[in-house]
Amino acid sequence: MHLPDRPPFALRARVLSPLAAGGIVDLPDGVIAVDANGRIDWVGSAAVWLSRAGERVEPIDVRPMVVLPGMVDLHAHLPQLPNAGLGFGLDLMTWLGRYIFPLERRFDRAEDAAQLAPAAYRAFAAAGTTTLLAYGAVYKASMDGAFRAAEEHGIRAILGKAMMDRITYDETIDPSTILDRSLLESEELIDAWHGADHGRLGYAVTPRFAVSCSAELLRESAALAARRGTWWQTHVSEDHEEIAQVARLFPTSTDYVDVYDQAGGLGPRTILAHAIHLSDRELARLVGTDTRVAHCPSSNLFLASGIMPLARYLEAGLGVGLGSDVAAGPDPSIFSVMQVGAYAQAALRTVGGETRPVLGPLEWLRLGSLDGARALGLDDRIGSVEAGKDADLIVVDPRLTASRRDLPYDAGRVEAEEVMSRLIFRAHPDMVRGAWVRGRRLEGPPGI
Ligand code: GUN
Ligand code: ZN
Repeated sequence: MHLPDRPPFALRARVLSPLAAGGIVDLPDGVIAVDANGRIDWVGSAAVWLSRAGERVEPIDVRPMVVLPGMVDLHAHLPQLPNAGLGFGLDLMTWLGRYIFPLERRFDRAEDAAQLAPAAYRAFAAAGTTTLLAYGAVYKASMDGAFRAAEEHGIRAILGKAMMDRITYDETIDPSTILDRSLLESEELIDAWHGADHGRLGYAVTPRFAVSCSAELLRESAALAARRGTWWQTHVSEDHEEIAQVARLFPTSTDYVDVYDQAGGLGPRTILAHAIHLSDRELARLVGTDTRVAHCPSSNLFLASGIMPLARYLEAGLGVGLGSDVAAGPDPSIFSVMQVGAYAQAALRTVGGETRPVLGPLEWLRLGSLDGARALGLDDRIGSVEAGKDADLIVVDPRLTASRRDLPYDAGRVEAEEVMSRLIFRAHPDMVRGAWVRGRRLEGPPGI
């Protein structure tokens, strides 16, 4: 069967999505209609749709496939994909020095970046991700190539050139000009790409983390993001040695969060990755400034960084979504991130003293889709399968996650929570069969 490449179209499938107003929509036999502009203009039961079929397009019947909102990955590193899965158990600083900085250094060759970016987008789309917030290397030309590739591929992408003026991996860049150059190049990329294709592409000003940035770079980059209305992203509180280095480098700051606070970097357009070891003061400050956090549990266990006290953060009202953090996270799939995250939270309950209940499968779905969209301030447009939103959708084959492949799997008869539970805990690398952004099909998933 052929999946539609362009809008308008209608799909008949099981529909499962969080709802902006709370709860979920679960249609065992549903129809989603996508208009010519790539917007969802109707979601409901197939019986209702078919009773009024005369005036409407024939839906493409993809049952027993399940339609979900496309996943939102709030944190990944595009140039790192080639080293995914390497360096398990190393601490962050050793891993960066051994596996990451030499890899990113190669991206001064724009051709390498031009080759890798389309493959990276195909990999993310094949994993079910339709919105990606990612870091590039420090080179402007490679970032330009990454944006061009995203424009072409169709994925929704917010990207930023990594900024590093304190430690960096390219000693040929003149240290006396590095700050001004990095700011200038970031602004040129904003001019070229922020808001492109009616907001499908966006820019995030990206100081890498406090260890690699001077106070001036942090301050100037935050001012640039505020002036141009872009996102601002960096890492915070990931690893104990990193936290100790930040304390040495910024002796007048109260703690790690305060470093970014003093730079003017906190606020609703800021996405901080990791935030594992926050004090009560830091947590309160992030909540008070409405700063958003990318939770990256697979990365956090891969590098033995720690386990985020997620229940405590959610109770405090912190805005949290999920990130693969490829390549510290070994897999671009947000479903696999949910799996590791769920196990990690269970571990906190058994040995970490956590007494609050763990999240269920449908709550993990919400974190990986609508909450991620909300963290980006894009929840009016994406994150759930609801009329009026852009058709950023995926179809998954639940049969690949069944406990026994030789038994018939009628997705229409299984509880929503059970469908999602298997998509998380029996996630299959080929289960995502199609992905669309604004109704335009993305290259990556194999089709049905
Ligand atoms: N902190 C600074 N850079 C990085 C990076 O590339 N990956 C991770 N996981 N943490 C970082
Ligand atoms: Zn990262």
